Amino acid sequence: MTDILGEMRKTHHCCEIGSDDIGKQVVLMGWVQRRRDHGGVIFVDLRDRHGITQVVFNPEENQAIHEKAHLIRSEYVLGILGKVAPRPDGMVNTKLKTGQIEVMVTKLKILNPATTPPFLIEDQVDASESIRLKYRYLDLRRPEMQQNLILRHKATASVRNYLNNLDFLDIETPVLTKSTPEGARDYLVPSRVNPGQFYALPQSPQLFKQLLMVAGFDKYYQIVRCFRDEDLRADRQPEFTQVDLELSFVGKKEIMEVAEGMMAAIFKDVLDLGLTHPFEQITHTEAIDRFGLDKPDTRFDLELKDVSDIVKGSDFKVFSSVVKKGGIVKTLNAKGCIGFSRKEIDDLTKFTAIYKARGLAWIKVKEDAWQSPIAKFFSDNEKKQLIERINMEPGDLVFFVADQPKITNEALGHLRNHLGKKLNLIDNDQFNFLWVTDFPMFEYDELEKRYQALHHPFTAPFEKDYALLKTDPLSVKSRAYDLVLNGFEIGGGSIRIHQIDLQKKIFSVLGMEPETYTDKFGFLLSALESGAPPHGGIAFGLDRLIMLLCRCSSIRDVIPFPKTQKAACLLTNAPSPTSKEQLDELMIKIKSIITE
Ligand code: AMO
Ligand code: AMP
Repeated sequence: MTDILGEMRKTHHCCEIGSDDIGKQVVLMGWVQRRRDHGGVIFVDLRDRHGITQVVFNPEENQAIHEKAHLIRSEYVLGILGKVAPRPDGMVNTKLKTGQIEVMVTKLKILNPATTPPFLIEDQVDASESIRLKYRYLDLRRPEMQQNLILRHKATASVRNYLNNLDFLDIETPVLTKSTPEGARDYLVPSRVNPGQFYALPQSPQLFKQLLMVAGFDKYYQIVRCFRDEDLRADRQPEFTQVDLELSFVGKKEIMEVAEGMMAAIFKDVLDLGLTHPFEQITHTEAIDRFGLDKPDTRFDLELKDVSDIVKGSDFKVFSSVVKKGGIVKTLNAKGCIGFSRKEIDDLTKFTAIYKARGLAWIKVKEDAWQSPIAKFFSDNEKKQLIERINMEPGDLVFFVADQPKITNEALGHLRNHLGKKLNLIDNDQFNFLWVTDFPMFEYDELEKRYQALHHPFTAPFEKDYALLKTDPLSVKSRAYDLVLNGFEIGGGSIRIHQIDLQKKIFSVLGMEPETYTDKFGFLLSALESGAPPHGGIAFGLDRLIMLLCRCSSIRDVIPFPKTQKAACLLTNAPSPTSKEQLDELMIKIKSIITE
């Protein structure tokens, strides 16, 4: 018989005992989910990561152990030895995998007591997220969180398996490195041995993976942590994980095939779901035109319609003047939503204001007329054209935003997603993958008054657009592609620049002088002239993908120890002030500390 008091040996998981084991001796170790005292007999639900088993302390069978069982509280760690017995008639719990049986305890060891937990360890937790994060080790005991992390493990195992079979090599890249521009701020690490100098934590391994191509490792991958100091949201963390790939001697088609195969492998291994691929592709221009966003949720229709040409001469000055100034007027037809109240429309107006829309005009289409503050401004001809363009039918509620293209598209794109949810247009069981391709190479940063790379500066422009680099950078399209799943950008990549002259030209368009780009990226430039193969790749946001696979609404729920919106770890209280000695050693002086 296994002696749980001396040499501890766990013989069973809490979920795997069933009717077949009746009469057997088992040893279980785990945590007390619940203790119930039923008129003498004490029942304990014992939990480990595999499940729950009911163990029973009966005073008639063993007085001493029953006595000891009175000490047991929630979350105590127990080791028990006992005999599997069928549950008495009427006591079978069909909701529990082990609901047919219970274990009659013959030996008990309280391995460790526990303080009363600040919240119950169960799925329907009512504690605030900050309490859950502060006691994350307890939160992670909840079955839901355990399932999320188990699923995450299965997904990364699937990724490794798939890529290893395709002859990819898993190669590590440094964490203490130099800035890689991916559009966010860097996290800096001071160097003690080089006072006044800093490493940057990688926003991605972008440059290293390109250097690995130059080094001849023609298929690279890494499941790698990336660091970005940016505004945080439900799908953004300051440190997050990428599944990062790079390949030599390939075009977009081959990279997409690898990515699609990888997604299919993950969905098969993790959810036992077959994916149809190749996935659909649309250009960035079409995505913005139809859906307003570069990561459209294609699980539902509700497309945007541009009516600028119809309203440009209208008497509604808001619309006509916006078009005159180079703006656009676009619409969303909320079919059958004529019943929306004034308050609902006001709320939607406030919602679009988050995206800087200055207003949200609307028309309710009745059988005989339009009900709208702006109906009076349109001529019969304009009305006729609007009806046709927007497919206005009695019962519809049409929304309009007039502004600069970026604002109009963003506001209506987000309103589209919002209405998709509000009107229940989304089938939550669906997984809709979509490639968005041919992004603009640059965008203009109004604040800094210069061009910025939309992806990163190592993305190749289309050859047909080379001439435009000098004359009209904003019209240059890049060989970049994003993978979108249900409205989330889960991956992004591109064919890279492998020619030194082209790379220098891109740096120049971005406003960098030769001294600046040589200083920042000299190592890349010299690699590019050392026999760089044509290459390209992609990186997937693992946390976002897992979030969608787990059907969670925040990536924090699939990261064991995440940060808050303010980039803090509530468990360890990082970040925190440091000692004067440490700062002196690093030759750093804090100018002032703003306290709240
Ligand atoms: P990109 O910047 O598009 O590309 O990042 C790739 C993917 O990483 C995820 N992601 C994030 N996930 C959580 N929190 C964040 N803060 C965060 N930022 C990005 C997204 C995104 O699609 N080096 C290039 C890839 C390449 O060109 O190969 C890169 O990093 O899902
Ligand atoms: P006003 O004439 O400012 O009262 O606006 C009449 C309607 O037009 C209101 O419903 C406003 O929300 C809307 N509106 C104002 N500016 C804009 C705009 N830029 N785009 C869309 N609707 C607007």
